[in-house]
Amino acid sequence: MITKQAIVDRLLNGRGAAGGETGEAFAPANIALCKYWGKRDETLNLPVTSSLSLSLGTLGSHCHLRRCDGPDRILLNDEPLPPAHPFVVRASAFLDLFRDPSGAGYAVAATNTIPTAAGFASSASGFASLVLALDQLHGWALTRREASILARLGSGSACRSLWQGLVEWHAGSAPDGMDSYAEPIASDWEALRIGLLVLEGGPKPISSRVAMRRTVATSSTYATWPATVAADMTTCKAAIAAKDFDRLGQAAESNALAMHATMMTAQPPVLYWKPASVAAMHQVWQARHEGIPLYFTMDAGPNLKLIFLASDEKAVCIHFPSLHVCIPHPA
Ligand code: PMV
Repeated sequence: MITKQAIVDRLLNGRGAAGGETGEAFAPANIALCKYWGKRDETLNLPVTSSLSLSLGTLGSHCHLRRCDGPDRILLNDEPLPPAHPFVVRASAFLDLFRDPSGAGYAVAATNTIPTAAGFASSASGFASLVLALDQLHGWALTRREASILARLGSGSACRSLWQGLVEWHAGSAPDGMDSYAEPIASDWEALRIGLLVLEGGPKPISSRVAMRRTVATSSTYATWPATVAADMTTCKAAIAAKDFDRLGQAAESNALAMHATMMTAQPPVLYWKPASVAAMHQVWQARHEGIPLYFTMDAGPNLKLIFLASDEKAVCIHFPSLHVCIPHPA
């Protein structure tokens, strides 16, 4: 088995002469239009399929980093977290991969610009911003591709959070994952919009990590998933190249529903949907029936993300007044 430490040691070998006192970075959150659902390697977060995402622009994570004596000290949105907090345990285990031989701790101040009550995961932008801040602090001079590989070791979808706009994560096939990284899809499609529809906050009943593992191990429909994603990726990329919004929206919505179908057919079943989620899906379909090109996607939680074009924002917001609209390519 190849360990995370082996990958980190290989990537960072001989680097780090020009480090500074602090590191500071921002990374945007991202929402997949073709989902990452299932790992072929649990240790290195290597996916079964490629995936494609849209960033949330200015919504994401800021990370400020410096060295400190003693154990890591972690502030989340200005609140000091206790050492046993799950966020601290996860962040410290990741930081262990990069520690100086002295074993000194890191003082991390993480601030999320995603509304905290929204129940949207910020682990992707969190790990991506942490890798960029570590790069600055240690002076590694990472390429974005290398940063993407390191962010993936923290959380799979984090490898897509190093760019704004449309991003593709190549699944790769190498056992060490050196060919499993993300890169931006060249596109000047500035009219794309993504909106967060907050239906319920609070913690998830089951983490995406556990749900993913259970789906791969037990779902009666998972065998069809890789081919579904491959077809949806091809459709989405062609739709992006042609700026064909309906084609993109249809493929993205269908891909999300197909992912949830694999979860529902797991044992025991995983169903993140709440009555409000289903009501919102019907409302999206009703808006579409009325002529508004509006589509949804949905991750491991009850909330929906809506995709539409800037020219339809007003009409969409009449249907969904509480929608938090993001510009994936901020100026
Ligand atoms: O990176 P993770 O372990 O948080 O998994 C993300 C899984 C989904 O959000 C459901 C899909 C995706 O591609 O982001």
